[in-house]
Amino acid sequence: MKGQYLPASTLSGLLGAWSDGTGPAYRLLAERLRLLIADGRIMPGSRLPSERELTDALGVSRTTVASAYRELRDSGYLLSRRGSGSVTALPSKVEPELGRHHAPGIDTDGLYDFTCAAPSAVPGISAAVAEATANLPVHLATPGYHPQGLPVLRAEIAAAYEERGLPTSPDQIIITAGALAATSIAVRAITQIGDRVLTESPTHPNSVDSIRRSGCRVVAVPTSPGGWDLPLLEATIRQSAPRAAWLVVDFQNPTGWLMPAADRQRLAIAFARARTTAIVDETLFELSLDGQEMPPPFASYDPAGVITVGSVSKSFWGGLRIGWMRVPEPLIARVLDAKASMDLGAPVLDQLVVAGLLRRRSTILPERRLEIARRRDALASAVSEFLPSWRFQLPGGGLSLWCELPEPVGSSLVGVAQRNGVLLVAGSRFSPDGGLESFIRLPFTLDPDALRDGVERLAASYNGLTAGSPLRRPAAMIA
Ligand SMILES: Cc1ncc(COP(=O)(O)O)c(C=O)c1O
Repeated sequence: MKGQYLPASTLSGLLGAWSDGTGPAYRLLAERLRLLIADGRIMPGSRLPSERELTDALGVSRTTVASAYRELRDSGYLLSRRGSGSVTALPSKVEPELGRHHAPGIDTDGLYDFTCAAPSAVPGISAAVAEATANLPVHLATPGYHPQGLPVLRAEIAAAYEERGLPTSPDQIIITAGALAATSIAVRAITQIGDRVLTESPTHPNSVDSIRRSGCRVVAVPTSPGGWDLPLLEATIRQSAPRAAWLVVDFQNPTGWLMPAADRQRLAIAFARARTTAIVDETLFELSLDGQEMPPPFASYDPAGVITVGSVSKSFWGGLRIGWMRVPEPLIARVLDAKASMDLGAPVLDQLVVAGLLRRRSTILPERRLEIARRRDALASAVSEFLPSWRFQLPGGGLSLWCELPEPVGSSLVGVAQRNGVLLVAGSRFSPDGGLESFIRLPFTLDPDALRDGVERLAASYNGLTAGSPLRRPAAMIA
């Protein structure tokens, strides 16, 4: 949590069994704190308890805490500011790079591209284009501008929400050029420059960049190892009363987690109390891979307070560039106003294609899920075989494995792997405030053979990089 005070009791919980290990206690404490900061469990800019408070909470000597803090200061993980105590930081070598854009698939000839969590098109796109082209002539007699989107497509999308038990009128649907554009428009509509917007960490970096470009301050809340940290989210919402929140609750990118119904309800209540508008990104919703029952849509817990963002980029094809927003009635005019200054409507032909694909979604999507599950399983078994020290939870959906490495070497691995023909994005790119150096996201979007070959090469890069360095914890796969 950026800029926030971390009480000694909370820090002591995060530190866990920090003193297990060999070596001086201050070094073990410093090392554990450094990992928490590098992994994004403690956000850069957090104010740590005073030496005396932490000494009391941990039951150690004051010298242990003072020496640990000194070591962190010397290595750039802690700054001492007059009047504000000890504030966490990231040394410049693990600072998130500025100006990086995640533009998948560019110049990747001959490389195993693990940078893009988006699969190729579903079969049937060409047939849908032919059908749409046949339906185009009636539209050619009109100017073709539909700022809110083609009625036929809005009706299909509204019907899909109704099927999920969320009453929705086509008037609540606004078509956009993908989910990222929808998030951008929603943030502009809801916030003013300087407003706070809450996000998870890790999360989809381009959306965070777009929130920042709108002039908002991002309040990133770290997740726990197994999912969302509800008490921390609730405390942050209470303390910072963000104007908006942007969350991915269905097979989150990069972790693949699915937020349970009870957590959705708790969060919706917390947002409503703080008058925070939640923007919930359902881009990966359709990619449920194990046939599990899906929790109700987040918006069903607060129909008047939640904007839902959707897209066909992952379910059908990113090249269609069609997404949407489901907007509560009282906000529709504001959102349309914000959108009008950015674009005047998505292409008519593409909207007709997507309407046709949505009409056939019950036959197209099961096949899509089977294929992606096959790729997920191929990637998981390749990682277990070639990189047995990497840990991951097998996600029930989505498009990526979120792998935890025994050492915080993510950024260095990206460079070494590229020289060996494997393109990667470092885990730190998924943290709004940097850190997460022990993580790498591996999408399962290539075909199974390419996934296996790519992971074998990645393992060679990783083993070369870490040869000789001690493991910091025992290796195990979680699931
Ligand atoms: C959570 C999330 N939101 C938005 C996007 C971008 O989607 P679109 O291609 O529809 O703009 C992605 C793509 O990876 C994503 O994972």
